[in-house]
Amino acid sequence: MTDQAAERVAEWVRPEIRAISAYHVPDASGLIKLDAMENPYSWPEALRAEWSELARGLDVNRYPNPQAPALKERLRAAMGVPAGAELLLGNGSDEIIQTIALALAGPERTVLTVEPGFVMYRMIALFAGMRYCGVPLRADDFALDVPALREAIARHRPAVVFIAQPNNPTGNRFDEAELIEVVEAAPGLVVIDEAYAPFTDASLLPRVGEWPNLLVMRTVSKMGLAGLRLGYLAGPAEWLNELDKVRLPYNINVLTQRAAELALRHKALLDAQTEAIRAERGRLHAALAAIDGVTPFPSDANFILLRVPAGRAKAIFEGLRARGILIKNLDGAHPLLADCLRVTVGTPDENAAFVAALRECV
Ligand SMILES: Cc1ncc(COP(=O)(O)O)c(C=O)c1O
Repeated sequence: MTDQAAERVAEWVRPEIRAISAYHVPDASGLIKLDAMENPYSWPEALRAEWSELARGLDVNRYPNPQAPALKERLRAAMGVPAGAELLLGNGSDEIIQTIALALAGPERTVLTVEPGFVMYRMIALFAGMRYCGVPLRADDFALDVPALREAIARHRPAVVFIAQPNNPTGNRFDEAELIEVVEAAPGLVVIDEAYAPFTDASLLPRVGEWPNLLVMRTVSKMGLAGLRLGYLAGPAEWLNELDKVRLPYNINVLTQRAAELALRHKALLDAQTEAIRAERGRLHAALAAIDGVTPFPSDANFILLRVPAGRAKAIFEGLRARGILIKNLDGAHPLLADCLRVTVGTPDENAAFVAALRECV
């Protein structure tokens, strides 16, 4: 049976899918988890009680409202979405990337992004059968290489350009005027992915509507609601009405809709957590810079990219795990990430444990 199943798989699953490995989520049980850019703080007891009460009243036998109007209203108010912009919701912003790719896909259509960048842009381009072009960032400071981007845009005429601001995994924020140059040079759609918006003062969200091809994507994951799976996309109605045809009708389940509304009513609490993470990021950066052989890069996000002595990244990553701390090893993921590790900013105790363990490993 196994052989026969394998034969059918070889015949029918697309070769490019068989060639890749599945998105790997390492087991973090028993470890201090600093690998996935999560907010380390959970909900206080009073909010949990409010949620239990609310959840009790939900009718899960009914489909959710497919447009989630109450949640959209909350998001608009809480996030400062410009009045003229339309909103589209996704089961995480990952799903929004997929929705965009499905709407624009075609064998001659290209997804263009910068590298090193968020890996889902490349993976989803492949799932949708699109071409992919990754333009390297500048090696010294991970800034946009605008001449190279202009050249690639002119050559590939991409259907969509994805750029994360601030960037993952490098953590830096790009120059806004340079991002706008990209928007103006691109013939198709440009999606600025503001997943890390809570941790930076940079945003193009207030300027949505100024260009006919600019969409801004956000998520509630990094502000402390990763388990709810909710992303949102803001932009001109002309684009969003078309993308909405590709979105699966009930993609935001009723529990997510209600829980996100509740959380956004208590946004001050999430904002306080974000502030604590931003302050802690500064302390963690300084502590890392003080370790001989470790170079942390500037970060506008809730994680820090760091370079360790040449050839040591894997051993240090494993040494940290042996000491109970899980971070991300990026050595080998891209030439510009040689000897690099990425750590999420945790609680003060978690960060102190990480710094102490790193000192031992280096
Ligand atoms: C730049 C960027 N965009 C999008 C996402 C996906 O976020 P979500 O949890 O909303 O799917 C991530 C997650 O790490 C990310 O780093």
